[in-house]
Amino acid sequence: MEPRDPSPSEHPGGGRYGEAVFPPGRPGEGERIDYGALVYDDPTMARLTALGAGPGWRCLDVGAGTGTVSRRLLGEAGVASVLAVDRDVRFLAARPVPGLDLLEADVTAPDFGPGRFRLVHARFVLMHLPERERVLARLTELVEPGGVLVLSDAVDLTSEVAPGTPYTRAMRAMWRGLKDTIGTDVSWVPAYPSLLRSAGLRRVGAELHVPPLVPGSPISRFWADTWQRSRAAMTATGLVDDADLDGAVRYLESEECAALSAGMLTVWGTKDQGV
Ligand SMILES: C[S@@+](CC[C@H](N)C(=O)[O-])C[C@H]1O[C@@H](n2cnc3c(N)ncnc32)[C@H](O)[C@@H]1O
Repeated sequence: MEPRDPSPSEHPGGGRYGEAVFPPGRPGEGERIDYGALVYDDPTMARLTALGAGPGWRCLDVGAGTGTVSRRLLGEAGVASVLAVDRDVRFLAARPVPGLDLLEADVTAPDFGPGRFRLVHARFVLMHLPERERVLARLTELVEPGGVLVLSDAVDLTSEVAPGTPYTRAMRAMWRGLKDTIGTDVSWVPAYPSLLRSAGLRRVGAELHVPPLVPGSPISRFWADTWQRSRAAMTATGLVDDADLDGAVRYLESEECAALSAGMLTVWGTKDQGV
């Protein structure tokens, strides 16, 4: 079945990410995002610098979270500026650096238009949002001619074909629970390359990063923490109960663990000069 863009009435007002499951004010939420950053920032930075991010670039980081990518763009890549946008900028405001500008805004708002940028980057954001195709079109408009749009989101390698383990059962319940509560939908992420091409971008490329799921790794901590926060949504699916989730966390930290983490698909495309 084709992935379906939820209507605004199903998930109103910028989506339910922070309201339904991951309130930024809940203790430990910044640390959870940082566990993800520990896993994914190196591949993200390698791709952004390979695409040319460097001196002179004005960048937009959408749904910037705790701002790890924004700050590395400034500190390591030496870009000119980064505008970091989030519906809640408390984590960004806590770690200011020169060149980092903040905007507390809803990227799904019809009037969201903070300017044009050489780089527009959004990681683990679009998959959680309503009206994704409209937001994707808007992000494309924000790329200046010659600039690049870079999107990263999760691909689910844990369902359907994967052998049943406590981890895969928990992940299936998580994706279902996040869909039922936030509206998160990773089923259309593999379509990003063709969607970017249809949006008029050129030189579209894509790559997949799958972090090793080994005991004590940041990705194991990230999933355990994410399940803890989404426990109510996961158990409400009827696919797992509390004992299953406790068992899945123990499994992640055991020598028995032999599973494939969800991957991060990164897709990019360039806007032609004069567009
Ligand atoms: C999973 S976190 C990803 C954070 C960061 N991009 C990273 O990869 O480390 C999703 C972020 O998107 C933000 N967000 C969710 N819905 C948003 C919206 N409608 N407009 C702006 N930001 C939004 C959340 O507040 C959160 O900081």
